[in-house]
Amino acid sequence: MINRETIDKIMDTARIEEVVGDFVHLKKRGTSLIGNCPFHGEKTPSFHVSVTKGIYKCFGCGKGGDSVRFIMEHEKYSYPEALKFLAQKYNIEVEETVETVQDLEAQNAKESLYIVSQFAATFFEEQLWNNSEGKAIGLSYFKERGFREDIIKKFNLGYSPDVWDALTQDAVKNKHAEEYLEKTGLSIRNDKGKLYDRFRGRVMFPIHNFTGRVIGFGGRTLKTDKNVPKYVNSPESEIYHKSNVLYGLFHAKKAIRDLDNCYLVEGYADVLSVHQAYIENVVASSGTSLTIEQIRLIGRFTQNVTILYDGDAAGIKASLRGLDMILEEGLNVKVVSFPAGDDPDSYMHKVGAGAFKTYIEDNRQDFILYKANILLAEAGTDPIKRAGIIRDIVESIAKIPDNIKASVFIRECSSLLQIEERVLLSELNTMRAAKFKKASAPQARYQQQHPDMPPADLLADEEPQVITAVAANDELQEQEIVRLLLAFGHELVSWDKIDNMYIGSFIMQNLTDVTFENALCKKIIDHYRIEIENGQLPTANQFIKSEDRDIADLAITLSTSPYSLSENWYNKHNIYVRDETVNLKATILGGLYHLKKRKVDRILLDLLKEIKTENDATNQEILMQRYAFIKNVEKEISRFLGSVIVK
Ligand code: CTP
Ligand code: MN
Repeated sequence: MINRETIDKIMDTARIEEVVGDFVHLKKRGTSLIGNCPFHGEKTPSFHVSVTKGIYKCFGCGKGGDSVRFIMEHEKYSYPEALKFLAQKYNIEVEETVETVQDLEAQNAKESLYIVSQFAATFFEEQLWNNSEGKAIGLSYFKERGFREDIIKKFNLGYSPDVWDALTQDAVKNKHAEEYLEKTGLSIRNDKGKLYDRFRGRVMFPIHNFTGRVIGFGGRTLKTDKNVPKYVNSPESEIYHKSNVLYGLFHAKKAIRDLDNCYLVEGYADVLSVHQAYIENVVASSGTSLTIEQIRLIGRFTQNVTILYDGDAAGIKASLRGLDMILEEGLNVKVVSFPAGDDPDSYMHKVGAGAFKTYIEDNRQDFILYKANILLAEAGTDPIKRAGIIRDIVESIAKIPDNIKASVFIRECSSLLQIEERVLLSELNTMRAAKFKKASAPQARYQQQHPDMPPADLLADEEPQVITAVAANDELQEQEIVRLLLAFGHELVSWDKIDNMYIGSFIMQNLTDVTFENALCKKIIDHYRIEIENGQLPTANQFIKSEDRDIADLAITLSTSPYSLSENWYNKHNIYVRDETVNLKATILGGLYHLKKRKVDRILLDLLKEIKTENDATNQEILMQRYAFIKNVEKEISRFLGSVIVK
């Protein structure tokens, strides 16, 4: 187990905005940072990061937590794995106490796959630079293709010898278990049960995940024989999921974020060549046609994608449809196409780095107009074909979630296609309406479960679409008390008869006659009370970092309540919110008395029912008296609420 001191050190060091910022493109809004949630597909950001509280919260899917939680969710790591990941990021030495054999085994299984992959990468690299076959065949191949040494080194390119089991033997000699060699696909077992190398006589491209660990390989043959597959790739494994990986992302992510644009190419060679032209914000989908996961991966770093295309017309037409998917994710798509017969790689080596960069900058086109132009040229003057194009183009435009952007494209296409804007717009609206019907409902569902939360689209500064309902029990009022405790428990106040008292103690004193119904709120309140009785004032962090996931989740939700997260939204919509920190007394008393009124109202309702069903006259009389008494309490509370609070 990792010891407490180490955990605390990691927690203190791992700033939430840095940890999340490695994976999500964050923008400042008001007091918090926001971005597109990495845990569910979304086009308008509802993922909030509070720097001061050290936590994140998505108002779309509800996920929230601290830095460690984020890494666990995002990387699918266990708690200790996430801690170690952060320790590594911040160069913190991890001190561990001894673990059980089972613990070690579970943790080490996946880790072993990483380790053997790294071993293989180092082996291949070693072969390329220091082995005579590697140098004569592999290295000279790369050099002949015009790759500079710094690029070959940067991407850890390598060479696998043309031998039956060179890697396998070396790995086994170095005490790597056969099991992991097989699981990563580096070695294959033949019918006779003997292991041999998957990659033989090929130049090797290690594939890194975006935190920089080697997860797989592509191996390119050096033969021109058509019967030999050009690339052999690692199979899917526990650490390598092709559809989630973009080749080059680890080396590109900083530049993508800095330049707010991502170049997308097809192959390994293209990534290297574009890099060599000093353009580092480039990734490749590598063989698979672009997946939605890959698009979302890009979307976490930037909203702008520029596709660098081969210059062959067939390839372009085939991929046009795939690009609609990018539009649908709300990203802006631009296109650069190369002269016929060239891909980014060949063109870069043909014209040189400087001219290549200029070419890209000068030949950027918006995808929709590019598509319109291609289709138009192809259709010529044939009126039926032209009509088909209109549908095709409007279909692409209909995928753009942003209305303003879409209408700009409608205007431009109207002049390009020589069709009235009105006609295109009505076509667009028909398609939109059909699409809207199919629209998914997860957000509406979240709304039902969390009626206290403004819908995500409100938080995202958009027009309100869902109107919140009011819950039928005391949960909201109870949660409000918990929220006040977490937010203000440590403030010292002096009001009327009380002098220099912590709000936490004050609230607890006023709750002695109240029973909490919501199990989770009750747990928190009970815990708070016990701590206070022990002379300790609990901190919000204690709950936010609670080992009890439910408590942590609620504490996070309440700590990131709309009050602090979306001031801008309220201002923008001219909704008046009492500034709760200015009149803290009204806020605290308001919370307490709203809860009390709620409880009292319930008691009154129950009494009323009892009176109705009670047959005995004397009993009824007693109940009536109680009712009158409590009704008075209720009136007082109401008057109090009316005079002190809000208004
Ligand atoms: N690819 C593959 N298997 C193949 C062919 C291609 O996995 N048999 C994948 C590789 O990831 C490759 C990408 O598709 O990088 C694009 O293919 P291509 O343009 O043919 O590969 P390049 O890397 O550009 O190779 P080269 O320029 O050396 O021919
Ligand atoms: Mn190529």
